[in-house]
Amino acid sequence: MDKMRIKGGKTLRGKVSVSGSKNAALPILFSSLLTAEPCVFNRVPTLQDIRTTLKLLSQLGAHVKYSPDQHKVEISAKNITNHEASYDLVRTMRASVVVLGPLLARFGKAKVSLPGGCAIGARPINFHLAALEKMGAQIQLEEGYVVASCERLKGAAITFEFPSVGATENLMMAATLADGETVLENCAKEPEIVDLARALRAMGAQIQGDGTETIRVQGKKSLHGCHYEVMGDRIEAGTYLAAAFITCGTVEVMGLEPEFLEAVLVKFEEAGALISRNKNSIALSSSQPPRGTDITTVPYPGFPTDMQAQFMAIMAVAQGASVITETIFENRFMHVPELIRLGADITIRGKSALIRGTTPLIGAPLMATDLRASASLTLGGLVAEGETLINRIYHLDRGYERMEEKLRQLGAEIERIK
Ligand code: EPZ
Repeated sequence: MDKMRIKGGKTLRGKVSVSGSKNAALPILFSSLLTAEPCVFNRVPTLQDIRTTLKLLSQLGAHVKYSPDQHKVEISAKNITNHEASYDLVRTMRASVVVLGPLLARFGKAKVSLPGGCAIGARPINFHLAALEKMGAQIQLEEGYVVASCERLKGAAITFEFPSVGATENLMMAATLADGETVLENCAKEPEIVDLARALRAMGAQIQGDGTETIRVQGKKSLHGCHYEVMGDRIEAGTYLAAAFITCGTVEVMGLEPEFLEAVLVKFEEAGALISRNKNSIALSSSQPPRGTDITTVPYPGFPTDMQAQFMAIMAVAQGASVITETIFENRFMHVPELIRLGADITIRGKSALIRGTTPLIGAPLMATDLRASASLTLGGLVAEGETLINRIYHLDRGYERMEEKLRQLGAEIERIK
């Protein structure tokens, strides 16, 4: 298993471009199941989760042509022969559960493994299943699989118990081919939802209200193929801005709209960073250590849970104390014991962590546990004195394209050890 070796203490400076958004690309690739015509997707990030998605689409019978160097994917779901997403695949990437909506909408049947938990929480899919039943799907749970079938999904009025990103995506896709209109209430409003809706509209879907809590979809008999370019990855961008902040540097991240990260930028400014918001880029500069600042993670447009671990690394070296409250996932503090190994002073009380900024952090061998925790440990290593060695960085490769290259480009002393 690959490791990452970092020699801390370098100030990061320069420009870096973000890749396409992982969390937009995954549902958008699965949306190709909704049409028999070929789809071409551009700016698809070269990540493990993308390869997993393409493997699942191929297993279902889709014809997939992947050009990772051009960040381009061509998919034709004309001959879908299999409607089963197996456990060994779904357990490696729970986002696969969004095949349910498209398979039911187009073929009237689907057999998808329950995702099982992951490091950050149980992550059930009850909201997805309850909503699909309201659209007329018969759903059984058999030996760890969701077995679903229907004649043709019917438009329905659905209110989500919680603005779940995955459930909103699954149901928006399911509704595009349903009979009649579907009204989804209490939807997630993340920019990745809007990107998916744009891709679906490029396929001829009729969707309004994406990005607000109420989404309306008028079902159609069929959708056509599309050419679509995925949006920039806002969490990747936030991670590189965090790297600039924690090393008191100056970095500009290119290729995304600042508004999609506004809640994070506001907190960076509260903690003392200087931010400039440009049309398609964000710059952060910081000349003194961060100030202790409290955050609470909430659904978009609030502070995103996917930036919580990264912000905690910054707070570990801040002047003063801070409280970080995680309200989205029940176990998303796996980075805390590892940051403590670097010398951080962090105490967990239920959903909140109290961080007392301390300097210096001292490099140490660390263990990555999940995607954003690995990013947090990398940030810690950038500022810790001496050498930090991070094990199991396959977690990092799920969501960050060539992170060590991009950080080296900014002046970090970091290398991947095969
Ligand atoms: C998406 O996960 C993202 N993944 C996550 O990013 C992100 O953290 C999360 O949204 C929240 O923003 C992708 O887009 C591929 P949810 P998702 O459904 O859809 C509970 C990353 O680091 N819930 O909004 O799974 C659930 O357990 C990843 O890139 C139910 O209880 O998130 C969680 O506590 C990590 N029942 C909360 O809702 C359900 O049926 C939010 O989950 C569905 C969700």
